[in-house]
Amino acid sequence: MSLSFPVTTNPSPASQARFDEIMANPGFGDYFTDHMAVVNWTKDDGWTNASIQPYGPFQLDPATAVLHYAQEVFEGLKAYRHADDSIWLFRPQANAARLNASAARMMLPAIDEADFLAAIAELVKADLRWVPAGGGEQSLYLRPFMFASEVFLGVRASQRVTFSVIASPVGSYFPGGIEPVDIWVTDSWARAGIGGTGAAKCGGNYAASLIAQYEGYEHGCSQVLFIEAAGKDRIEELGGMNVFLVTTDGRLITPELTGTILEGVTRSSILAVAEDLGLRAEERRIAPADFFGLIADGTAAEAFSCGTAAVLTPIGSFRTATDTYRLAAPAGEQTLAIRNRLLDIQYGRVPDTHGWLHRVV
Ligand code: COI
Repeated sequence: MSLSFPVTTNPSPASQARFDEIMANPGFGDYFTDHMAVVNWTKDDGWTNASIQPYGPFQLDPATAVLHYAQEVFEGLKAYRHADDSIWLFRPQANAARLNASAARMMLPAIDEADFLAAIAELVKADLRWVPAGGGEQSLYLRPFMFASEVFLGVRASQRVTFSVIASPVGSYFPGGIEPVDIWVTDSWARAGIGGTGAAKCGGNYAASLIAQYEGYEHGCSQVLFIEAAGKDRIEELGGMNVFLVTTDGRLITPELTGTILEGVTRSSILAVAEDLGLRAEERRIAPADFFGLIADGTAAEAFSCGTAAVLTPIGSFRTATDTYRLAAPAGEQTLAIRNRLLDIQYGRVPDTHGWLHRVV
């Protein structure tokens, strides 16, 4: 049976002045809307008590399982306001499927796609004013997440789980917008290993990436690229984004999904959009020597990272402890063409030939 989401309206929503101030410069992930969706699960009763309620803190017992063993998964997707004021989600069914795949890996319960979609749609409807006007690159970032909420310290799958969705009006993920970013290539830290949680969207992967990201900051880079941990024989992904090279002979190359890489929704959309634009997509294992060799000899003139949050961000260079590999044409023609086509689909400026958009209002 599908869940319904009764709404308790926030008695103290953001004032018009505060709202205007936030929307003038939302940044990324700093501000939240007036409401949130919450659903509880127990082993005996399944998913119950769905609601849209005023945004606010969870009250958590210090022994709540997630605080100790990180049994948690999350998603990221966006709501876009089109020119006619209609509001759309981009491929939310893919997020539902990935959340459930991540949940299965972390011994958390599955949630029906219909309930996942309803939680998001009802939240967006309650917070409609927070979906920024289209035109720029602003959107309402939605963060569904699920965590072990049972109070206990034994190591076993939680018998109480909370699913929630919060929403944040956002602009660019990187402060420089589409200015090319420099990427640090770590050889000392790993993000994921074979049989580990690399393909799951769980908080622990991001926590594990931070030390390398900070190493990157020390070298003037904004993100970090991970290489497969055991054999050091293939390029994987950035801390929170997938990575692509574009060759001058029209190929778009990205690491294949090996179980240690996140199956990005933006990644798969870009592979399809690139084919629409006449590029040849290549998903394959790429050895570091091959990857950097393609840049060094000029075969790959463009590179970019992608994710829901950052959309598609051009890369200016990759830096290792010993070398710097500069892209000949950062923010080049193909990168911008793919980026613009994806944004045009998301904002309803070109026909949605793939059937990716899901109308909310
Ligand atoms: C997203 O792109 O939505 C993510 O979850 C990545 C995170 C770096 C914000």
